[in-house]
Amino acid sequence: MTGPVLAVDQGTSGTKALVVCPERGVIGSGSAPVRPRHLPGGLVEVTPDDLLSSVLDAGRAALADAGEPVAAVGLANQGETVLAWDPDSGEPLTDALVWQDRRAEPLCAELAGHADELKALTGLPLDPYFAAPKMAWIRRHLTRSGVVTTSDAWLVHRLTGAFVTDAATAGRTQLLDLDSATWSERALDVFGLAGERLPRVVDAAGEIGTTKEFGREIPLTGLLVDQQAALLAQDVTEPGSAKCTYGTGAFLLAQTGDRPRRGDSGLVACVAWRLGGRSSYCLDGQVYTAASAVRWLTDLGVIAGAHELDPVGSAVPDAGGVTFVPALAGLAAPWWRGDLRGSLTGLGLDTTPGHLVRALCEGIAAQVAELADAVAADLGEPLRSLRVDGGLTRSSLLLQTQADLLQLPVEVSALPDATALGVGAVARLGLDPRLGLRDVVPDWRPAALYEPRIGPAEAAERRGAFRTQVAALMERHPA
Ligand code: G3P
Repeated sequence: MTGPVLAVDQGTSGTKALVVCPERGVIGSGSAPVRPRHLPGGLVEVTPDDLLSSVLDAGRAALADAGEPVAAVGLANQGETVLAWDPDSGEPLTDALVWQDRRAEPLCAELAGHADELKALTGLPLDPYFAAPKMAWIRRHLTRSGVVTTSDAWLVHRLTGAFVTDAATAGRTQLLDLDSATWSERALDVFGLAGERLPRVVDAAGEIGTTKEFGREIPLTGLLVDQQAALLAQDVTEPGSAKCTYGTGAFLLAQTGDRPRRGDSGLVACVAWRLGGRSSYCLDGQVYTAASAVRWLTDLGVIAGAHELDPVGSAVPDAGGVTFVPALAGLAAPWWRGDLRGSLTGLGLDTTPGHLVRALCEGIAAQVAELADAVAADLGEPLRSLRVDGGLTRSSLLLQTQADLLQLPVEVSALPDATALGVGAVARLGLDPRLGLRDVVPDWRPAALYEPRIGPAEAAERRGAFRTQVAALMERHPA
């Protein structure tokens, strides 16, 4: 046994930390908010020091809650959020450009001739969502000084002094050769990033260094990008299953084994994790706005917060003819039209907040259903269920809608914080190399199950209404 570990999930809208004990499960938790700034033109930025202080605050709160020491720390990160920083002082040189930020769109348009080559090399379509376009934008427009990296490399440097990133996070940059899981000189060249000093690509588990930020010197032994950490925690290792995490965005991933599987359904092929020098791979699809669309509805005053989705939505039997394409930061897989914006159609004088809430749940669930279909097509077999976690899984309305539109059972994680549990698991692996994945990932036992309550014809009709609105958006704004 390895003793409790501190597992920290540094997410877009907040940081969650758990103290996880191998025998007793979660024995402490803490959280701290992060407030990205949403600016005109699709810009989304956050102050780097807010990311670091949220990690420290959430981690210290979890330790205080547990009231006992931990043997190691694991850190999960947002994936595609980037900043420039001084590698000598550790001081940020720019704000962090959040993964939702669209300012690198013109740069991607300029590089469009390289899109196929980049996709073949890295598994990723050319889109500002990924790190490299934003890194290149920083180099062109903000600073040529210091290093430019994903946020994990900066946080780890501030915690331990090491200059590393894990293979799965590196795989979110569009600079990693997917087959060898090493930096691609060619991709760096295409983005004008040749010669950049990049972090060393490391396994998800292993001692990276030590930190004194949590009271005493503790080794950092787990590093993994957030969605892949949730994939691991939800034990999605068999074909026929996939997971979706409903956070700021919603992200559907399916493991594809020890070789990359480049599908042709518009999904991303990327590293799931690298352990013991061996990479596992996954397919990945994204809904850019899930909880952030709920927050948008909240900011408009339609609801008081995510906790009102169910009571407000349950006041009406259906969406009342309203269709919401919640592409508030564009559409990702399988459409890859980040330039589009949302649409809300079918409004009438009789439209109520309940209808809008139902239409929002339906819009998120319809996008996830498209991603599930794409995964099934690429894997060559239908999914049998969807495992789900994340803050929005507290909404029965959303999950029932998801099961209905998918026509599949939706299995809910016992803890919404699967990402933290996943990085806690790899931190334990890093602490004791004798352990295997089976020793650290608990058997999957869903806390709740949602079965479809409507038939295939109604599901097809409701998904058809959503697709019609997506097609209308594309018609109005041709690529
Ligand atoms: O790719 C970005 C994503 O991983 C962020 O996750 O939990 O902050 O929505 P979350």
